[in-house]
Amino acid sequence: MSKCVLVTGGAGYIGSHTVLALLENGNEVIVIDNFSNSSPKSIDGIERICGKRPTLIQADVRDSLALESAFTNHDIAAVFHFAGLKSVEESVQNPELYYDENIGAALNVIDQMRIADVKTLIFSSSATVYEPSEAPPYAEDSLTGPKNPYGQTKLLIEQILTDLAGMNPEWRIGLLRYFNPVGAHSSGSIGEAPSGEPNNLMPLLMQVGVGKVEKLSIFGNDYETPDGTCVRDFIHVVDLARGHIAALRFLENANGAHIWNLGTGVGTSVMELIQRVESATGMTIPTEVVSRRQGDSPIALANPSKAFNDLNWRPEYSIENMCIDHWNWQCLHPDGY
Ligand SMILES: NC(=O)c1ccc[n+]([C@@H]2O[C@H](COP(=O)([O-])OP(=O)(O)OC[C@H]3O[C@@H](n4cnc5c(N)ncnc54)[C@H](O)[C@@H]3O)[C@@H](O)[C@H]2O)c1
Repeated sequence: MSKCVLVTGGAGYIGSHTVLALLENGNEVIVIDNFSNSSPKSIDGIERICGKRPTLIQADVRDSLALESAFTNHDIAAVFHFAGLKSVEESVQNPELYYDENIGAALNVIDQMRIADVKTLIFSSSATVYEPSEAPPYAEDSLTGPKNPYGQTKLLIEQILTDLAGMNPEWRIGLLRYFNPVGAHSSGSIGEAPSGEPNNLMPLLMQVGVGKVEKLSIFGNDYETPDGTCVRDFIHVVDLARGHIAALRFLENANGAHIWNLGTGVGTSVMELIQRVESATGMTIPTEVVSRRQGDSPIALANPSKAFNDLNWRPEYSIENMCIDHWNWQCLHPDGY
């Protein structure tokens, strides 16, 4: 089995772990990435782990000619579309940028797939599409209603792809709603290396751990949760990558658009995560409690039953594994790749 998969954004955090999973699964892989938030060194890391390299194309995924030549020069059977911008805060400050980049990229991918007659697509969606006032855990049919432009772009792309599959039943589309990906490959050869300041909790915690950031701000400790801090559903990035392989397998026998939550269904509070990191690293993490951040929901938790049942997939890594592996990566690469 050597189906060729085109992975947009394959040098990034989740993309690189998924490229590794695809290569380990026996697939041929073409990565297209402009390295706006990653480094080509992630590809070296993949090769160190599995002894194989994907073909790398450095280009913007909105570049029609680059995509067209990728489809012409390779026998591509499916596309995993990760490339895009992902900061909620930045999207609030610069919404046009997010609509332009994320929607523009998705439309170009769809267009070039249509021209090349490739009809299997897995798209990186997000738990941010859910209406935060919905009672958790969220199932795929829970109410949606993103509260920021980033989440809006994810929901809009889901709608575009659902309409596309509705009109063209031969398309096979997986819409994967990720919860909170953390961790790194246990070798420490690939991991999360954002350009600039991280704004997700785990990378920030890690930077406090290595002394690059003075202290961690906890946004509110008066929520109606067991310890007053927000609760999230953290999932190991290697489990998330495995979920993509399971979705690809499912789509071999199923037409249409399918939504799956990829989470564990287990909640961990911000305070608990800090304690877990402290025990994984043996360090004390300086923290300060500041006021709540607008738009944060107290609890965001997946009901992952549909993915468990349809995909025959289960997360395997514990929260301890997530902290240890992320810390191992951070210690080996304090400045990224
Ligand atoms: N990390 C999370 O917490 C999270 C949660 C939910 C959904 N997602 C989604 O998953 C996907 C991957 O996220 P990630 O955490 O790996 O992010 P990432 O920034 O590490 O990876 C994205 C990759 O896409 C590349 N890229 C961005 N714009 C591009 C363009 N126009 N052309 C070519 N390459 C481009 C970047 O250089 C990077 O390598 C994104 O779509 C993100 O919105 C991420």
